[in-house]
Amino acid sequence: MLAISKLTGGYFPGNPVLQDVSLHAQAGSLTSVVGANGAGKSSLLGAIFGFLPQVSGTIQLGGDALAGLRTDLVARCGVRMVPENRGTLPSLSVLENLQLGGLGLPREEIARRVEAELERFPRLRERLKQRAGMLSGGEQQMLAIGRALMARPRLLLLDEPSQGLAPLIVDQIFELLGTLRGGDMTIVLVEQDVGLSLAISDYAYVLEKGRVTLEGPADTLIDDPYVKQAFLGIA
Ligand SMILES: Nc1ncnc2c1ncn2[C@@H]1O[C@H](COP(=O)(O)OP(=O)(O)OP(=O)(O)O)[C@@H](O)[C@H]1O
Ligand SMILES: [Mg+2]
Repeated sequence: MLAISKLTGGYFPGNPVLQDVSLHAQAGSLTSVVGANGAGKSSLLGAIFGFLPQVSGTIQLGGDALAGLRTDLVARCGVRMVPENRGTLPSLSVLENLQLGGLGLPREEIARRVEAELERFPRLRERLKQRAGMLSGGEQQMLAIGRALMARPRLLLLDEPSQGLAPLIVDQIFELLGTLRGGDMTIVLVEQDVGLSLAISDYAYVLEKGRVTLEGPADTLIDDPYVKQAFLGIA
């Protein structure tokens, strides 16, 4: 379980872009953080993943205190992130990208996990030898998610997986994300597409100008008059 309490942080001292953010995400659940451009969604993931320069407050993942740790140490605690730009290595093949996700594991275990990800993403199997840079946006997103899952993370952070993708591909990716719920993994998804993310989430937070302004079970928020008016374009 992820427990964030009174998190304030930003890029420069005295100029916080996150203010007093508290967030809880149960193991096995999918929690989304929704908000407009510039609300602080990526900064929040940056604070968890160790690359927001100024951080105060606590970020607890099970028994591990993450606030202020460097990214490599956060990763060692079992956290993986799929960043906004997807972060796959363009000149390496699909296979090599997946294998990198299992870095440090025994070779046979890496092979087993690669196979599991190819089962999950059959499209990647067809493109195994292709360079990641030659994939479509949707395929790159699948590769980025598959690579993160190779580590079997305790906490998976996803930054706007819908960005720049055709609606049909977005639907496929969100459907897949929905299927990742229910295991041991805690998933935190940040998204501008509020309707899509609430549809697959257990619980959600609305972030506005760096503050949590609303939270609740996703199926309650989806019917909230303010959420409808401000984010779903329904009067
Ligand atoms: N590297 C940076 N240095 C300084 N300020 C930054 C940096 N990155 C973001 N910010 C500022 O922090 C605030 C929050 O930005 P952030 O990227 O976290 O928002 P976001 O919700 O992820 O937006 P988007 O939906 O556009 O990705 C913004 O005011 C932004 O200008
Ligand atoms: Mg962002």
